[in-house]
Amino acid sequence: MTKTNTEMMKKIRDDILDLKESPLYEYRVKNHYFPVLGEGNHNADIVFIGEAPGEKEALTGRPFCGPAGRILDELLEGIGLDRQDVYISNVVKDRPPNNRDPLPAEIELYSPFLYRQLEVLKPKVIAALGRFSTKYILEKFGLPEATQTITQLHGKVIDVKVPWGKAKIIPLYHPAVALYSGGSKKVLVEDFKVIAKFGKKG
Ligand code: URA
Repeated sequence: MTKTNTEMMKKIRDDILDLKESPLYEYRVKNHYFPVLGEGNHNADIVFIGEAPGEKEALTGRPFCGPAGRILDELLEGIGLDRQDVYISNVVKDRPPNNRDPLPAEIELYSPFLYRQLEVLKPKVIAALGRFSTKYILEKFGLPEATQTITQLHGKVIDVKVPWGKAKIIPLYHPAVALYSGGSKKVLVEDFKVIAKFGKKG
């Protein structure tokens, strides 16, 4: 019998729970944190990819449920979407200490889990939140834009051939920037309108 998307996602979650060789595993256990797999619609056309869980996310096991998450919710609402219409995940699945940037070795270790999630979800739109997820996704698909900065790329639509057909990659600033800069929030609001063109799920 073929497995459902939800069953395949559960298997990925179990594999991450078992990831004892991760440099972030001890930190997870010591702090009673959870790995954060992702959340949302397992048949979503649009997948948002952040960087790594913060403290609130690690304590709850839910992506973007802290201050940056409130901004993300607002941005989604602004284009008539909510979390149940999309899937939200991160490149790195465990919280890096003190929310430091993820290390290259951590991205290398965790990103195959994200890629497995993408293979299950087969999204038409991959919205990359911030420079780490943008770089990972563009490099993964061998796109020349990978050498450009998020300042150059945000709000652009990059067509890509993926194993499940065709998709569009949309690099965006990370929602956390809007916590510190009203100007960046305006840019995010405008860039989200690009996503709105690709509609809801289904
Ligand atoms: N920032 C991220 O990149 N991901 C989260 O889940 C929360 C904050």
